[in-house]
Amino acid sequence: MNLILLGPPGAGKGTQAKTIAAKYGLLQLSTGDMLRAAVAAGTDVGRRAKAIMDRGGLVPDEIVVGLIAERIDQPDCRNGVIFDGFPRTLAQADALEATLKQKGKALDAVVELRVDDTKLVERIVGRFTCAKCGEGYHDRFKRPKVRGVCDICQSTEFTRRPDDNAETVTRRLMVYYRETSPLVGYYYCKGTLKEVDGMGPIDQVARQIGEVLGRTK
Ligand code: AP5
Repeated sequence: MNLILLGPPGAGKGTQAKTIAAKYGLLQLSTGDMLRAAVAAGTDVGRRAKAIMDRGGLVPDEIVVGLIAERIDQPDCRNGVIFDGFPRTLAQADALEATLKQKGKALDAVVELRVDDTKLVERIVGRFTCAKCGEGYHDRFKRPKVRGVCDICQSTEFTRRPDDNAETVTRRLMVYYRETSPLVGYYYCKGTLKEVDGMGPIDQVARQIGEVLGRTK
């Protein structure tokens, strides 16, 4: 199964992608994570992407399409992939369709997470991540069970993303509505779009996605 999780910044794509990937044996491919890894490694792609990401813009299509085309050829993608944060433009969506077709694969569903803007800002500004294993948390909605200690790896170091501030979030939302939201209509016309209310608690949203995907298979 190959899926896309579509939705604005903070909608819960990364959070839900991990659950779905574990449940269905899929590989989560987050272009945001791939780009952040490139920035941390100081690669040419990372150097080109950093300033754009810090100000909440979109990295050029040819860079992200190249990253994905290369990655989905690897053996761990054989059982299927969940795309998290990709595609983000109509050009990326066309490129993904062509790449999958060329490799004899297809897209099974596009799950759109719908969340109001005020909630998105609240979710993003409160987000933090374990510096060691990458587990995601939130100041209000998902705190570690023991304060200051990661539930998964017991590390006591956490990080916050440089683009998770109120000013950049507003820009990221505008970019989403201008560049990415047209994909809702694009996938609706292709018959693959599934809408899910992303406003409720994490477990409730996960259950709704499970129901939608259960009807897809
Ligand atoms: P990326 O990393 O993809 O960021 P994003 O799309 O802005 O999405 P986020 O990671 O902010 O949010 P999310 O929906 O994953 O929410 P999460 O689950 O973490 O991209 C970053 C940048 O990279 C872009 O701005 C761009 O520059 C570049 N880029 C990436 N891909 C690109 C592409 N394809 N083309 C061009 N440029 C690209 O949840 C957020 C918080 O809320 C967490 O703390 C979580 O615990 C909490 N939470 C989640 N769900 C719930 C819930 N139901 N209830 C309560 N809290 C919840």
